[in-house]
Parts: sequence; structure tokens; C-alpha cells
Amino acid sequence: MERRALGAGGPEIPVVGLGTWRVLDVGPDLAPDRAKVVDAALAAEANLFDSSPMYGRAEAVLADALRARRDEAFVATKVWTPDAAAGTAQIERALEWFGGRVDCFQVHNLVGWRLHLPVLERLRDEGRVGVVGATHYQEHAFEELAMLMRSGHLGMVQVPYNPRERAVEREILPLAQELGIGVLVMRPFGEGSLLANPPHPETLEPFHEFGARTWPQVLLKWVLSDPRVTAAIPATSVPDRMTANARAGRPPWFGPRERRIVAQLAG
Ligand SMILES: NC(=O)c1ccc[n+]([C@@H]2O[C@H](COP(=O)([O-])OP(=O)(O)OC[C@H]3O[C@@H](n4cnc5c(N)ncnc54)[C@H](OP(=O)(O)O)[C@@H]3O)[C@@H](O)[C@H]2O)c1
Repeated sequence: MERRALGAGGPEIPVVGLGTWRVLDVGPDLAPDRAKVVDAALAAEANLFDSSPMYGRAEAVLADALRARRDEAFVATKVWTPDAAAGTAQIERALEWFGGRVDCFQVHNLVGWRLHLPVLERLRDEGRVGVVGATHYQEHAFEELAMLMRSGHLGMVQVPYNPRERAVEREILPLAQELGIGVLVMRPFGEGSLLANPPHPETLEPFHEFGARTWPQVLLKWVLSDPRVTAAIPATSVPDRMTANARAGRPPWFGPRERRIVAQLAG
């Protein structure tokens, strides 16, 4: 698994991790099953996990699944509330769940960033939080996100990027490169929509020499072949899919020609 620095001077993280939205938002009946996806991620060196209080029980399920192996994982979670006191409570709760430290703490959808960033920056200075960042999934918010990137408060951003959602290519990715800000990519499969009608397996043959044999691997490789991207966090509830996704996290990377063909196949 290739590792890249999460921003200039930032920690090295694997280029493929696990998103936990929906897939870890489960009750005690399914939690042991989903812990196997976390096991598969760790076994494949895809030890990057993204969560949020917005994802229901996912943060707690992740914390439980990691308990004995917390130090093997890079945990990125979020604060998501417009209220200062509720934000502090969410942050403290996550710190407790994840053994006193969260490796990357993000302001989810920029909600209440004026309140939360000073708290997260203080915790970073105390060593309880690693990289401080912010996320948004909608293009209309990218102007505000770019403004915050320029302000010097963010070490990373999390944004959607896939062959059908390329708005970040206009300003966010160039700015991240210029300022040395890390980029986590959410929705590499467009919430699964890009996998609904996969191209015929024969059309994927040109990508075999790049180590990408399946359509999900080709899509992940398309994302990761942009050097401005630090890592992608596809979500899956299936351990074998986690293992297969992780295999896309190794060079060789696609060049402009392969990326163009993938974009055409994705439609
Ligand atoms: N969507 C958002 O707006 C948003 C916002 C903020 C943050 N995020 C973060 O980004 C993460 C990823 O985004 P996402 O969950 O929206 O969507 P995604 O990763 O683009 O797609 C997830 C879907 O792909 C399927 N999948 C994954 N690997 C597969 C494989 N190898 N073969 C076949 N199907 C596969 C999963 O189904 P199975 O479970 O059946 O494998 C799941 O339905 C989230 O979990 C979250 O941590 C997302």
C-alpha cells in the first residue's frame, strides 16, 4: 500500500482507507460482522478510517472494533453541530472513544467552523488531535472552503471526487497543491452509483497492467492517480471488497490517457 503525507509535513497515511457512513451505523446484532471489515482494512494496511457523529452509531462501532488495535489505526472523525457546547461534547466523546487522541479532526460540512476550529487547534497544540481539517460534499460550499484553506487554519480537506464529480478540479485541488494541504476523497464510487452499470470486463483489460482488474479498482486508481489527492475512503460493508479496494492503492498510476478512458467509461 502506498502512503502519502496528509499535507506538507503531515503524517504519512495509506492512500486507501474505509469510510464508515452507513456501513458501520449498525446495532449490536451486526457490529461483530462489520468489525470484520475493519479487520480486513488493517490486514491490508488500509488503516485509515473516516467517521462522524453524523453517521449514527458508526463512530462507536469503529471505536469498539479498533479497541485492542487503536495504535495501528489512523482515525479521522468530525464535529457536526452549530452549537459550541454540543461541539465540545462531541469532540471530548470522540477523544474518549479513540483512546485520548484523534489523528485527524474535521469540521463536518463546515457547520459551526468559527466555533469549532479554535477548540480543535488548541487540542492540536496539546497533542490530543493530529491534523485539523474541514469537509464539504456540495459544490456551492467550495468557495467558503477555499477561503478557509487560504486562512491557514486547515491542514486537510475532505471533498467528493470521481469521474462524474470533478468540481474540485477547478479550485480546491490546485489550492491544496499550492498550499500543501492534504486531500481525503469521499464518494470515490459516487455513493455506489458509479458501480450500478459497470463496463464489460473486456473493456478493463488495458488497466490490468496497472494492477486494476475490476471496475471499483479502476475507479479508485483514477482518483489516486491525481497526485494532489492524499487518500480515498470508499465505504463497504463487505470484508473481501475492502481487501480488493486496498489493492488499488499501489503504483503504477494511470497517466492522462488512462484517466481519459476511465472518464469516458464512467459516462
Ligand atoms: N456521501 C457523502 O456525502 C459523504 C459526505 C461526507 C463524508 N463521506 C465519507 O466518505 C465515505 C465514502 O463515501 P460514500 O460512503 O458516500 O460512497 P462510496 O464510497 O462512493 O460508495 C460506497 C458504496 O460502494 C459499495 N462498494 C464499495 N466497495 C465496493 C466494491 N469493491 N465492489 C462493489 N461495491 C462496493 C458499497 O456497497 P457495499 O457495502 O455493499 O460494499 C457502498 O454502497 C463515507 O463512508 C464517509 O466516510 C461521505
